[in-house]
Parts: sequence; structure tokens; C-alpha cells
Amino acid sequence: MSEALETSQVLSEVLEDLRRHLLWQEEDGGRFLQMDARLAAEARAMRLPRPPAAVRPVPSAPASPAPVVERPAPARVPPPAPVAAPLVLPNVSAQARPSTGPLPGGERPTLDEIRRELGDCRRCKLCTGRKNIVFGSGNPRAELVFVGEGPGESEDLQGVPFVGAAGQLLTKMIEAMGYRRDDIYICNVVKCRPPSNRNPEPDEVSACEPFLRAQLKAIQPKAIVALGKFAAQTLLRDSTPITRLRGTWREYEGIQLMPTFHPAYLLRQPAEKRKAWEDLQQVMKFFGKPTGQRG
Ligand code: URA
Repeated sequence: MSEALETSQVLSEVLEDLRRHLLWQEEDGGRFLQMDARLAAEARAMRLPRPPAAVRPVPSAPASPAPVVERPAPARVPPPAPVAAPLVLPNVSAQARPSTGPLPGGERPTLDEIRRELGDCRRCKLCTGRKNIVFGSGNPRAELVFVGEGPGESEDLQGVPFVGAAGQLLTKMIEAMGYRRDDIYICNVVKCRPPSNRNPEPDEVSACEPFLRAQLKAIQPKAIVALGKFAAQTLLRDSTPITRLRGTWREYEGIQLMPTFHPAYLLRQPAEKRKAWEDLQQVMKFFGKPTGQRG
């Protein structure tokens, strides 16, 4: 049996196992099952105000992205100017902000420094319901970073990203690619769990997104896998549906970015797993990892 076939079979078996979590997801009101028409309408219309003049804005930071919505296909948003270096840590709200500004000498902050800057964050309302901030985990020098949407219940309890049902699937996907979780880095767009696993709201993304961008800048991976529409649309500032974004290389701040389906979506829609695997195979090819496929 070819390596690719074997890998696909292993993945399929694991995915089958995890499919049983779908019912739990439904009962738990999983975010992928919550389609809020009001939020969707708001998202399409939304343009967040810039930070107040008294608060120094992130240089050249584009307007906050529209949050991800499942339907209908929104118009493509013209890409704004890229975020300029040097990195300035988030200052969307002055609340509980110990310090701002680039490090002396224009160095980019390390993950530890970014985590310290985040502190006991009170920059948005998600802080009221969280048990733990879920900053990110893995190799701070990873060549590959996976970006998800936001912590769920298990992640909130443990303070670690992707440890629930979707996380177990993600771990299998990562391992099927020939990595261990420790080899790569995993983080989310928002670091605190949205209540009842609802989608993060624009002000929450706006407050948290600079930390994600800072993390990516600190790690400087060679490639990013954006898991699901929320991560892909936020990083790319592009409201194209994930069904059209996925599977095509894009560029984020000079880093190759592959949008693919979110593992929680794959738990709901197992028929889409094959496409996700094809996307990940493209990432494997990028890193020269054997996929068992020609071409
Ligand atoms: N879903 C996400 O997007 N991130 C997590 O950390 C867990 C589930």
C-alpha cells in the first residue's frame, strides 16, 4: 500500500471515530452549527471605528476585518495596505495595558514578551466569561503555524488550543502530515472563549488580532495553515467564502498561507475531509515532505 493511501486510511479511520462527536457538538451548540443571521448581516455591514485619537494606533493597521459568516457569499473586500513593520503591540484599548510600542532597537518581541504584554487581558468583553487565556502552544521557532478561530470549552479549561474533539482531529491531521504537535505552533484569532462557542464579534477580533499578528511575526514561520473561514478571512482580510479560499496558496506578510476547512467543520461534514487532506498535502509538498502523490 502506498504511503499516501496508508496515511489517508489512518486519517479516515480517525475521522470516522471522531464523527461521533458531532452529536455532542450539536448538543453543545457548537459554533459551526450556530448561524446567526443578525450577526451575519452586521458582519457584512461592519466597519469598526479606529481606536480613539488619545490611543496610539497600530501603524498602517487596516480596518478590522469582517467576522466570518457562513452564508451568503459576501462581496470580496479589497485588500487594505499591509501592516507595517516594526511591530507595535496592541493598544486597541488602554485598559490594563502595561506598555506599548516596539522594543528598543526595533527588535521584534518574542512570544514570551507578547504573552506578558497580553497579561490578564481585559481588552474586550470575552474576559468576563473565560477561565483561561489560550495564548498558543508549540514550537516558538516552528516552520509551520496553524491558526484557528478561538478556544472552545476544553481549551478554555486547559488553557491550551485545540485539545477538544476538533483538536484531537487536528492532532491527527498534523501527525498524518509527518509532524508532531511539538514541531509546529498552534494558536487562534481570539485568545478567550466566546460564550456558548458563538463566533467572536468584530470588537473582540479587533482587540485580539494584533496579538495573533505579533505571534506570527515572532515565530516567522515559512507557512501558515488557516483553519476555517474565520482564521483565513481575518488574516487575509478577505471575505471570500472558505469554500473558495481553501486549497489555494495565498500570502500573509510574505508568508505562504494555505486556507483549509476547520477541523470542527470536518467533524460535521466528513465528506469534505478529502479536500482538507488535499490542502494539507500541498503544504507537505511545500516543505518537501513525501505525500505519496505524483506531481
Ligand atoms: N476551535 C478553534 O478554532 N480553536 C481551538 O483552540 C479549539 C477549537
